[in-house]
Amino acid sequence: MCGIVGYIGDREAQNILMKSLSRLEYRGYDSAGLAIIKGKKMRLAKKKGKLSVLVADLKANPLEGSTGIGHTRWSTHGVPSDTNAHPHLDCKGKIAVAHNGIIENYLELKEKLQKEGHKFISETDTEVIPHLIEKFYSGDIAEAVRRAVKVLRGSYAIAVIHRDEPLKLVGARCDSPLIVGIGCGENFLASDVPAVLDHTKEVIYLENHELVVLTKEHITIKDFEGRRIERKPSKINWDISQAEKGGYKHFMLKEIYEQAHIINNILDERCKKGSISFHELEISDSELEKIKRIAIVACGTAYHAGLTGKYMLEEYAKVPCWVDVSSEFRYRDPLVDKETLMIVVSQSGETADTLAALREAKRHGAKVLAICNVLGSSIARESDGVIYTHAGPEIAVASTKAYTAQLAIFYLLTLYLAKLRKTAAPAKLGALLKELKRIPALMGELLEEYRPEYNLLAAYAEGFKKYYHEKHNKTFFLYLARNINYPNALEGALKLKEIAYISAEGYPAGEMKHGPIALIDENPWVVCIAVKSRTYDKMVSNIQEIKARSGIVIAIATEGDKEILHHNINYLVEIPKAEELFSPLLVAIPLQLLAYYVARAFGYDIDQPRNLAKSVTVE
Ligand code: AGP
Repeated sequence: MCGIVGYIGDREAQNILMKSLSRLEYRGYDSAGLAIIKGKKMRLAKKKGKLSVLVADLKANPLEGSTGIGHTRWSTHGVPSDTNAHPHLDCKGKIAVAHNGIIENYLELKEKLQKEGHKFISETDTEVIPHLIEKFYSGDIAEAVRRAVKVLRGSYAIAVIHRDEPLKLVGARCDSPLIVGIGCGENFLASDVPAVLDHTKEVIYLENHELVVLTKEHITIKDFEGRRIERKPSKINWDISQAEKGGYKHFMLKEIYEQAHIINNILDERCKKGSISFHELEISDSELEKIKRIAIVACGTAYHAGLTGKYMLEEYAKVPCWVDVSSEFRYRDPLVDKETLMIVVSQSGETADTLAALREAKRHGAKVLAICNVLGSSIARESDGVIYTHAGPEIAVASTKAYTAQLAIFYLLTLYLAKLRKTAAPAKLGALLKELKRIPALMGELLEEYRPEYNLLAAYAEGFKKYYHEKHNKTFFLYLARNINYPNALEGALKLKEIAYISAEGYPAGEMKHGPIALIDENPWVVCIAVKSRTYDKMVSNIQEIKARSGIVIAIATEGDKEILHHNINYLVEIPKAEELFSPLLVAIPLQLLAYYVARAFGYDIDQPRNLAKSVTVE
């Protein structure tokens, strides 16, 4: 996934574009570039590396002008390099293009264009776009872009400028997000809202197969057939400070600490006087009553939230559920039909595989409900109904607050369906809702206890770093849990992998004897989620099996549990007493903090880990 920005107005474009790119750096950060027009001249600055490298270059060689585009890259085709950085140009250097997505037919287009005499200098798929526009250009950049996108296949959001039409900025999208920021005497293009919030809260979300022509005064939207489209602007209801660190060292730490407040807001907003409401759902109760099964499809952390959702939906709403990763669902012949409710879970609402899975399910006649965090995102807009998590912008690549917010929505949806389908006694549901509403305070207590200055897990992380070096990288992490906390074991392992680059695996503890126990000797660090639950005794047996083979155990247990202390565990992390059903909301926090502190101990770039991007908008 990459970040695209564009500006057209009376102000100098360079610093506006660079600030906007800095707001999108979470989308990709292996190279960056700008193209700006002044008079009839267009100048380019492109650098491999983080945005800071481009900043240094611009200090020495600033770009002047008031019409420009910018790009921060997560490479798909072509290594990170100055040449492969965007924007890319046509043969004559008159047309500049910044692109997010993948052009699937770029090789055939490139060969054809080369036969027609076009010269290419990069290894990217993107470079075919400016040459195509050049081929179709006959004095109207918007029309040339429209003709070019008609022959592109794949996913793209593009920003385009032409040196001979300095008062126009053109954008187009297919499967990758693109928004217009509406200014006063100026307008903006961007991949995502944070890039324009320093200037405006009025945005227009472009839909698929739409093209937009911006001047500093006007916004013209057309479809790819050239037909005009009228689109109401949307008002952004949060401000840019929420997309800043607020004094924390990393966005990830800030977002971990926001969780108690966010879950509290979700419950407050959706539970009034004991009844649950999803005002934006747009799937009727009668439709929900008729569903025979639920298919939950997502990627990564969102998939783990979906796995947790399965446990609660089956136990209380008594609906058979299966959970699939999006990239698998979309390539098998899934048994979904009009009696299936498909729930797609996605923080960004732009994950390509999840979007494709959603479309596949709709083709099979299923009703699709999205649980999304980004308002107006592609997945939200293409679903039959959406429940927003309202977790605020999640900037860190590693998802934390969106995960617990997704869990909270699953809890509320479970109670809602159980009441609607009469699969649980009202008194039981009332008691569960009351217990759920206690959880944010317990999360706050837990987070309060782990204040950075004396964080228990930071000490464990430092200990692990020392051990890791002594063992010459022979160690790894195993996360074990049972029942509704098993998905948390997968999530804890994913967090450690993606920000600390440590080999880690989540496993259902009951599977240990079926193979993984062969891994146990004095090397692995084993995180055992052993909160008070119906499977607690089984978890204690697993801990004993690990200790009998010299394994190192970090136990996550319930406050006041004395029994766990008799099993020679190496490290103990306690969580407040809570109903097992809701314990994943609490267990998630030490798992997130452990990964955070290990990554910090190793000195890694926590908010922008290597090889990753915040939303995978390519397949
Ligand atoms: C989670 O920390 C990762 N960043 C990644 O697994 C993420 O959850 C996955 O790519 C799905 O993203 P989405 O929720 O935006 O669809």
